[in-house]
Amino acid sequence: MRVLVIGSTRGTGKLTVEQLASAGHEVRGMIRDPEQADTVRASGGEPVRGDLEGDLDGVVDGVDAVAFCAGSGSSTGPDATLRVDLHGAVRVIDACRDAGVGRFVMLSAISADDPMRGNEKIRHYLAAMHARDRILSDSGLDATIVRPGGLTHDEGTGKVRIGVPRLEERGSIPRADVAAVIVGCLEEPATAGAVFELVSGDTPIADAIAELRTGA
Ligand SMILES: NC(=O)c1ccc[n+]([C@@H]2O[C@H](COP(=O)([O-])OP(=O)(O)OC[C@H]3O[C@@H](n4cnc5c(N)ncnc54)[C@H](OP(=O)(O)O)[C@@H]3O)[C@@H](O)[C@H]2O)c1
Repeated sequence: MRVLVIGSTRGTGKLTVEQLASAGHEVRGMIRDPEQADTVRASGGEPVRGDLEGDLDGVVDGVDAVAFCAGSGSSTGPDATLRVDLHGAVRVIDACRDAGVGRFVMLSAISADDPMRGNEKIRHYLAAMHARDRILSDSGLDATIVRPGGLTHDEGTGKVRIGVPRLEERGSIPRADVAAVIVGCLEEPATAGAVFELVSGDTPIADAIAELRTGA
């Protein structure tokens, strides 16, 4: 499968590039600075230039699927959340539709279903996640939406729990396990249409993916 990973230079997206490449997929990693090209190549991907706040021309051309793992980060404020996390993502969704790229896996966040449960600091962020998940679900793309709890840099455990819907039970999960779930969803087309919360747990990732198959 030819996959474009957005947010390929760091965090969950970088691990997604590594895991997709290890599994034999042809991976493109979007970068906004040419100096990031070596990072993507070292992860096993081919760099492609694009900026969620700028030029996205041609970035999705020729791929079968997009994994959207980018974000403006928690220190940037509401304006960047709107420009990058919301508007940037919607532009990528539109580009996929225009280019006939059908498959899309979105890295969202726990409690995106109910933003007003979040405290004042993160409410705008959850509202942006909520809106973009709705736009993606209504886009006609074969979309899977992954809503993890707090992301850690711990080693992956290979085990997860799906369906913990409340912020107060937020939980956490290593980025490596989230990346493995994103890869598993890309490899299992029957997860299209699934929207789910994700934290660490006891279920092997392959079994969790099997349970996510639409209609299973
Ligand atoms: N942190 C948490 O606990 C948590 C919990 C649930 C969900 N999430 C979601 O998970 C996402 C990923 O988090 P992470 O910590 O794994 O990643 P991260 O380390 O925050 O990396 C963010 C990625 O987005 C890219 N990016 C930022 N602005 C961009 C732009 N304008 N155009 C293109 N790319 C851009 C960055 O590229 P550069 O290297 O160029 O900056 C980087 O590759 C978050 O954004 C959030 O939505 C996070």
